[in-house]
Amino acid sequence: MVLRPITLLLLGLCGASVGPLGAQTVAAPTDVPLATCPMDVPRPTSAAGAASGPPEPAWDLRCIELIPAAAGGDARGVATLARPSSPFGVTVTPEGRHVYALSVRAEGLPDPESLGPYTVFVAWATPLSLDPVVRLGEVTGAPGTSDLGTVSFSQFLVLVSAEASADVTEREGPLVLRGRSPSSLMEAHDLLALAPSAAQGRGSADAHAGHDPAAPDSGWAMPPGYPGVEMLPGMMELIPGVSPLRPSAPDAAGPPPMVRPREVVRLPDGGTLDLTAGFVRKHVAGREIEMLAFNGQHPGPLIQVEANTTIFVNFTNETPFPTAIHWHGIRLDNPFDGVPGVTQEAVPPGGRFQYRIHFPDEGIYWYHPHHREDVQQEMGLYGNLRVDPPDPDAWSPVHREEVLMLDDLLVDERGVVPFGAEAATHALMGRFGTMLLVNGEPSYTLQARPGEVVRFFLTNAANTRTFNLSFQRTDDGETLPLKVVATDVGRFEHEHRTQSVVLGPAERYVVDVRFPEAGSWTLVNHVQGINHRRGAYLEERTELGTVTLAGEPPARDLTEAFEALRTHDDVVADIDAFRSHFDDSVAHELVMELEADSLPMAIEQSMGYDWAYFNPVEWTGTMPMMNWVISADDVRWVLRDASTGRENMDIDWRFRVGDVVKIRVHNDRGSFHAMQHPLHIHGQRFLVLSQNGMPNEHLAWKDTVLLPAGSTTDILLELSNPGRWMVHCHIAEHLEAGMRFVFEVEGGS
Ligand code: C2O
Ligand code: CU
Repeated sequence: MVLRPITLLLLGLCGASVGPLGAQTVAAPTDVPLATCPMDVPRPTSAAGAASGPPEPAWDLRCIELIPAAAGGDARGVATLARPSSPFGVTVTPEGRHVYALSVRAEGLPDPESLGPYTVFVAWATPLSLDPVVRLGEVTGAPGTSDLGTVSFSQFLVLVSAEASADVTEREGPLVLRGRSPSSLMEAHDLLALAPSAAQGRGSADAHAGHDPAAPDSGWAMPPGYPGVEMLPGMMELIPGVSPLRPSAPDAAGPPPMVRPREVVRLPDGGTLDLTAGFVRKHVAGREIEMLAFNGQHPGPLIQVEANTTIFVNFTNETPFPTAIHWHGIRLDNPFDGVPGVTQEAVPPGGRFQYRIHFPDEGIYWYHPHHREDVQQEMGLYGNLRVDPPDPDAWSPVHREEVLMLDDLLVDERGVVPFGAEAATHALMGRFGTMLLVNGEPSYTLQARPGEVVRFFLTNAANTRTFNLSFQRTDDGETLPLKVVATDVGRFEHEHRTQSVVLGPAERYVVDVRFPEAGSWTLVNHVQGINHRRGAYLEERTELGTVTLAGEPPARDLTEAFEALRTHDDVVADIDAFRSHFDDSVAHELVMELEADSLPMAIEQSMGYDWAYFNPVEWTGTMPMMNWVISADDVRWVLRDASTGRENMDIDWRFRVGDVVKIRVHNDRGSFHAMQHPLHIHGQRFLVLSQNGMPNEHLAWKDTVLLPAGSTTDILLELSNPGRWMVHCHIAEHLEAGMRFVFEVEGGS
C-alpha cells in the first residue's frame, strides 16, 4: 500500500466550514522573535506545504488576531499566548487548563477621549460564557507589547475597551478590539453533513479487504465508548483491519499464579537478578483476568542500586511472544539495550538472555519490553530501577520515599480489550485505558503522619496517556504544593514549586510533598479533554488513591528543608560544561507528522473538522471507536529529517563519542492529525534548551521529552556512548506505526 499525505484533500473538505483556517500557505516571518506573534498572524501550513522547509512553530495555535469593534475604527492588534516556563513539556493548572502568559500589541487605536469620558485602553479575558470578565491590564498604542499576566481559561475571548482609568475593575467603556483564543475556533461536527459519507463506511479501503465488518465471527467487540461523547454515525459498522489477539497462558501449563505486589531488590556491585516474564492471574474490576508480569509481580521488582555499579540480569522469557528487556534511560553498553533487531536478537518464547547493566547516572529509570510494546507493556511488563547517588546528602531529607508507576488499562466487561494480531490497533492516538492504575492497582493508599515529607518517584508507564497529577484535600479540593526535585536522568539544577506534575509516557519526575495536617488527601489526575463532536472541552478528573494522615507528627521536623528550594551545585557544574554549546547552530532538524491513506470517509471527514485546532496535549481518548479501528497498517507516523527528506528507519545519523549536537524537533501542526509526541533517545542524555524560542529555565538531564502539538523544541544531545541507538516516539502505537530510527555513535573505548 502506498501512503501519501492526505492533508490537501482535507483542506479542500474543511475549507468552507473552518473559515479562517483555509488552505492558504503563508510563510512565517523570520524577523520576529519566536516568542512574539507578528501583527499578521500566518495561517497554518499543511504538511504538503512543508516541502519548502521545516514548518515554523504553529503561530495560529498561540496567536490571537485582534479585530476592531465598532468603536475601534482602524485599530488592529495581536495577542501572543506564551507558555510560562515550567519543568514540564506544557504548563497547566491542577485542573489541566493550559496557562498562557498574554501580551498584546496594538496599532491605530483611536484617541480614547474621542469615544467619551475615557483616558486609557484596558484588556480583559473572559470565557465563552462571558463570565467572569477578568482584567488583564493596560494596553497602549505605543510600539512594543503590553505584558498582561496569565490566563488559564480553556476557551476565551480577549477584549480591549476604552476606560476612564487604568485601574477600573469592571469593563464599562466601549469595546475597541476583540479576538478569540485558538481553542475557541473548534467547531461542532455537523451531523447532517457527515451522515452520507458515514454510510460509505470502509468500502473503498483495500487495506481491509478480506475483513467483512459485518462478519459476526470477526472476534472483535466494540470497545467502551467515552461517557457523554456521541459516536460518529457509521462508526458502528467498522472494525480494525487486523485480527484480534487475546494473549493467554497455554492450558497445558495449568492456571498461572496470582499476581503479587512488587518487591524491592537491592543489588550490590556485581549482583545478579533472575527475571522471568510470564503470565499471572489478576483481579481487575471484579473479574479474574490473565496478564503478564516480571517475576509474578505488578509492577516488576523495584531494582535499587548505587550509581557507578554494575549488575547482571538473567532474563527468561516464559511469554508466548518474542521479546527483550530495554533498560529505559540508562547509558549502558549497547549490546544490552534490549532492542530486537538493533542490539540483540529477540529472545524467543522459552529463551534466555543475560544483561550486564552499568549505571553511570543517578535517577529513576524503568525497564520494559521493546517488541510489540503496545501488547506486552499494556499487559503488565514493566518495572522501575532506582539509581541512588553516592552522596546521600545530594537530595534534601524526607521522611519517606514512594515509587509509583502510573498506567492505564483498556478493559471492558469481558476483560482486557484484544490487541491487533498483525499490527497494533489504536494507531491514531494510542491505546488509552479505561482504568487508571498506580503500581498495578486502581487505588493507591498510603498512611502517613501529619507533617511528613514524602518523596514520590513517578514513572508514566502508559501506552499513550499523559498524566497531570496533584494532591487535593479530600474535603475541599485544595491542592498541596509540590516540590519538583528531579526528572529522568537525575536532579534539576534548581528545585521548583508547582501545583501539579505533568508526565508524558516514559517520563519520570521526582516530587516532594509535605502533608501538613491530619486528614485525607486524594491523588488526582485532572485533565481537559476535547469532545470533538461538540467542539468543546470536557473535564476528566480521576481519583487514583488516598493519603491518610493520622497520629503524632514525626520526631524530625523537615518543614524548613521542604520549604527551601535547593540549587544542586553538582548538577549546575555538570551542565556548565555544555553551556557554550547552547548557541550552537542546529545540526539536525526533525519533523513529526502523520501519513494516512484510505481511511474510512467518516473518520477522514471528522478529523478534517478537528484540524481547525489541536490541543497541545491530547489528554484522553474521547474518540475511542475512531482510534481503535485504525491500525498501524492504516497509518504511518513519521519522523522526517528536514534536510535529507529521509524518514524513519531510512534516517542515517552518525556521530562520534564526544560530539554535542543541537537538534530541533518540529511537531507539525499542519499534519493530518497533530498531537503530542514523547520523544525518547536511547543510550545518551540530553538537555531541553528551548520551546518555541523560549529558553528552558528548568534544566536537568533527560532521555524523554514531551513535545506538544505545533511546538518547535531544541535539545542538546550529548553523544557519550558508542553503539547503535534508537530514537522514537514513546507512544507504543506510534512506535509500531513507524515513528522510529537508529543512529550510530562511533569511537570510545
Ligand atoms: Cu522506553 Cu525505546 O523505550
Ligand atoms: Cu507519537
